[in-house]
Amino acid sequence: MDAIINVNGRITGQRDAVISVLDHGFLYGEGIYEVVRTYDGRPFLLDRHLRRLRRSAAMIALRLPFTDAELVARVRETIAALHREPGVHQDRDVYIRILITRGVGEMTYDPEPCDAPSLVVIVKPFTPPPPDIYEKGVRVALVPIVRNHPSSVNPLIKSNNLLNNALAAQEAFRRGAFDAVMRNYRGEISECSTSNLFVFRDGALLTPPLEAGLLAGITREFVLELAPEAGIAAREVALRDPDLLGAEESFLTSSTREIVPIVGVDDAVIGSGRPGPVTGRLRALFRRKAEALASWG
Ligand code: PDD
Repeated sequence: MDAIINVNGRITGQRDAVISVLDHGFLYGEGIYEVVRTYDGRPFLLDRHLRRLRRSAAMIALRLPFTDAELVARVRETIAALHREPGVHQDRDVYIRILITRGVGEMTYDPEPCDAPSLVVIVKPFTPPPPDIYEKGVRVALVPIVRNHPSSVNPLIKSNNLLNNALAAQEAFRRGAFDAVMRNYRGEISECSTSNLFVFRDGALLTPPLEAGLLAGITREFVLELAPEAGIAAREVALRDPDLLGAEESFLTSSTREIVPIVGVDDAVIGSGRPGPVTGRLRALFRRKAEALASWG
């Protein structure tokens, strides 16, 4: 099913959505974004996503001339247009991508000639990942591409400048893996190319700290809050390859995929080679909470 796209207030089908090639988002990858999905028509943790969007904007000195209410209105009118499409039921959950770029300027890094940021909202019917990945788990690849140094394009910025992650993911896909695990410049594990990483070992759920250079995933944060409720001790700690390879369980997290069990890393088997009970418990709890808490705020 095609997407419906809102470019600076102009809503069209995906074929007709256009943006200037002189937009610094296109020229230099200068922009930021968020991805949110709905549960029963309501977005989950939208307030946190909008806060992160503003943090990302501040980190690239991009002033946002939109209030949260204006951003939400832009999203809602785009979803309404999608729901008017033939064959798209009102109840159909949606994938929402909000992108904001530096805007149209000159071919110089100087942002001064850019008069206003471009705001793009992409919505499409949400297609849940195949049930297989939850039932059987996935295999990831440890790739040699290093996650950005925090003093480079800081991984805390949810940036449209995604070449590093795209190259890492493509290396993983070539190896037949579901996603790429990247290390930081110190050789510690940071995260996957589009998700955060957790391991369960010695009775504790572990994930690398933000200081290891990774995106502060909203799902990661929520899982850390949820773990004690599920009777699981969780903490942020630097991880190295043996911590992942010797884990009893592992999983990745993202807004669109929730919690996906990892059962292999390249040729190595993780734990029993099957999704583990801790991952299963967290996933069930996560799903219950997401359905209960999703809201327009
Ligand atoms: N990706 N790490 C990276 C590099 C990501 O791109 C993402 C999200 C995450 C997980 O963050 P969250 O839990 O807030 O979705 C971690 C989105 C889903 C995407 O690029 O489509």
